[in-house]
Amino acid sequence: MGYDMIEITKEGAVATIKLDRPKALNALCSQMMAEMADALSTISIDDKIGCVILCGSEKAFAAGADIKEMADLEYLNIYKSDIFSNHEAIVRFRKPIIAAVSGYALGGGCEIAMMCDFIIAADNAKFGQPEINLGVMPGIGGTQRLIRAVGKSKAMDMCLTGRMMNAMEALSSNLVSRVVPLDKLMEEAHAAALKIAGQSQPISMMTKETINASFELTLSQGVRLERQVFQSMFTTEDQKEGMAAFTEKRKPHFKNK
Ligand code: CAA
Repeated sequence: MGYDMIEITKEGAVATIKLDRPKALNALCSQMMAEMADALSTISIDDKIGCVILCGSEKAFAAGADIKEMADLEYLNIYKSDIFSNHEAIVRFRKPIIAAVSGYALGGGCEIAMMCDFIIAADNAKFGQPEINLGVMPGIGGTQRLIRAVGKSKAMDMCLTGRMMNAMEALSSNLVSRVVPLDKLMEEAHAAALKIAGQSQPISMMTKETINASFELTLSQGVRLERQVFQSMFTTEDQKEGMAAFTEKRKPHFKNK
């Protein structure tokens, strides 16, 4: 599949997916999301790639679902086509994925950033769920993921007033893991992605899966799952290599086995 609305670059074991529809501030139209789902499915079977960065432009990570594409839709069409379901490709993606957010991350933009494993924000980032201003509410997981990230009071504030949160507020609210100067965003995201991609791929995937399971499980179920997955890691060559490298005071060379 050729891509018109996203751009893929690969550097070593890191793939970057850049949302590239600048005239519409990267509004997430159906074509763009189909391209992203296709790219993620291709990257998921590319053994050379250990981590993905999702980014937009300096002005906009993404200003939301495409309002113009949506405006005249009718319930039965969007029910039958299950609108926004292909955005879940990010959730289904099993390797680590970092959102590098600069500029606007609004509506669906904020929602797809939250689907990633963590968010690194530039100091000009603005997050929001402004759907209420359009007579709707978030529809790509915002009502569910925002509350888990920032708690009830702030999630209600954001979704009911539609106001934007700047990068520092997003950091103090735990929506993002770090804030960096705009001109350092991609460098910082790349350094984090390279570090992740240098670890054992299956171990990173299992770690991600186990952390995400905490959203669905009770504490005791989650701790039990963690112990089982931890124990299963002792079947891998990478566990042997990681621990041998520590005792031999050298860097580990993981083989993803
Ligand atoms: N959908 C479609 N087009 C969009 C868009 C969107 N979400 N956001 C921006 N654009 C388009 C504008 O229509 C404009 O196009 P034209 O030049 O053809 O008029 C172009 O991008 C540039 O936008 P602005 O001129 O508005 O730029 P600005 O700098 O003045 O304002 C902004 C920037 C504050 C982000 C403003 O564009 C804005 O408010 N955008 C909409 C944000 C929004 O409401 N997002 C939620 C969408 S709904 C959603 O996501 C639902 C969901 O959860 C499922």
